[in-house]
Amino acid sequence: MKILSTRQMLLNAQKDGYAVPAFNIHNLETFQVVVDTAKEMRSPVIIAGTPSTIEYAGGEYINAMAEVAANKYDIPIAIHLDHFEDVEAIKKNIDIGFRSCMIDGSKLEFEKNIDIVKSVVEYAHKFDATVEAELGKLGGQEDDLVVDEKDAMYTNPNDAAEFIRRTGIDSLAVAIGTAHGLYKGEPKLDFERLKEIREKVDIPLVLHGASDVPDDLVMKAISLGICKVNVATDLKIPFSDALKEYFNEHPDANDPRKYMTPGKEAMREIVKHKISVCGSANRY
Ligand code: 13P
Repeated sequence: MKILSTRQMLLNAQKDGYAVPAFNIHNLETFQVVVDTAKEMRSPVIIAGTPSTIEYAGGEYINAMAEVAANKYDIPIAIHLDHFEDVEAIKKNIDIGFRSCMIDGSKLEFEKNIDIVKSVVEYAHKFDATVEAELGKLGGQEDDLVVDEKDAMYTNPNDAAEFIRRTGIDSLAVAIGTAHGLYKGEPKLDFERLKEIREKVDIPLVLHGASDVPDDLVMKAISLGICKVNVATDLKIPFSDALKEYFNEHPDANDPRKYMTPGKEAMREIVKHKISVCGSANRY
């Protein structure tokens, strides 16, 4: 297979009521864990890199690793630019070989968000690359917000329909109460809002900030129309904890093949678990 866009993957997930996991990776080791585990579980998979990851690991290197994996494994694999705000950086990485991107104009006001997203869609679709955009703001939990603030922060279903119609995006990241990173208490997701969005729009919906959200809430969100679930923090913590433990036990260790391995193993368990929560195993 070749490196894919997320178009068909997400449409299949939408049709069959599961979600494709999007795992944020940072280097060769985390990349390997994600693709090897997805292959083992026969799950489609999205490998995501934020601008700082692309800068750290190099877009060409990530693309080359994905080409190797796509040739080696017969599962759908996409590499995705996550939370990019710079149009030129997106274009550059599409030129390298990325076929999926998120243009994050969520901090901009509605019309400006539409403008920037449209310019990315125009470019990306020429290369058959897919575009995700976000409407609303991730961050505050429902608990912390008064209703007016909630309306201002969370995705407005009517605006979502207009936004999609005017931009031509392929998937929409919704703000319904999740936040990036860990939560202070149990997150509260606005499922009524998600239902309303699902009724008003027909493209795949994306849940950001899925780390530290109880499995049953993620599964409920999937049952209500989420087709892509983004996970970063829940992978980073076990990986680095396992390394810390290894160095505590072996303070003189200096062989990356030895100290990285427990990190990979710890992360593999979480990747497996997230794939089962997404319901994406054995889809290929
Ligand atoms: P978490 O770090 O909360 O998993 O968020 C990941 C994410 O949404 C990446 O776009």
